Amino acid sequence: MSRLESMRRRLTAQIDGINWAAETIAPLNGDVLELGLGNGRTYDHLRDRLPNRRIWVIDRILQPHPSCIPPAECFLQGEADAMLARLADQGARIVLAHYDFGFGVKDKDVAEGARLSPLIAPLMVPGGLVVSQQPLIGFEQIAGPDTIAPDRYLFYRAP
Ligand SMILES: C[S@@+](CC[C@H](N)C(=O)[O-])C[C@H]1O[C@@H](n2cnc3c(N)ncnc32)[C@H](O)[C@@H]1O
Repeated sequence: MSRLESMRRRLTAQIDGINWAAETIAPLNGDVLELGLGNGRTYDHLRDRLPNRRIWVIDRILQPHPSCIPPAECFLQGEADAMLARLADQGARIVLAHYDFGFGVKDKDVAEGARLSPLIAPLMVPGGLVVSQQPLIGFEQIAGPDTIAPDRYLFYRAP
């Protein structure tokens, strides 16, 4: 598979995964959490699909496309550990988290996912979903939409 095809597969998985999760959480109350603003592409898709939900965003830098800057009161700029702790202090209740942190170095990315999982879990409402590029721990892994190859994108339900 060429890198271009691999990129298409990743983008399709992100779109299908977010769409599926947005529909699945529809009956539940709670906010959305974007972990990794980056260029703002997935944030833009989340806000398009979930226009009535508050979307919290964490990133150590604010450098998205100018059209994708989150409202200041919903953007937590800093290291994930400290920002997740701040959200917990504020009593945030998350029904859908999209985990898109990563250095592109598999071992480091897996270790970071494992380290941050226990900080994400207490924010989640029961039955809430975490959609992730990286493996996480402490959640029930569930099947996502049929269009996504298993393990291309990961889907978890909060206990
Ligand atoms: C792959 S990019 C996110 C791409 C984005 N979701 C998009 O669609 O454009 C990962 C982002 O996560 C941020 N990041 C990675 N690890 C982080 C950490 N531990 N704390 C805060 N931000 C982090 C990086 O600064 C980067 O902007």
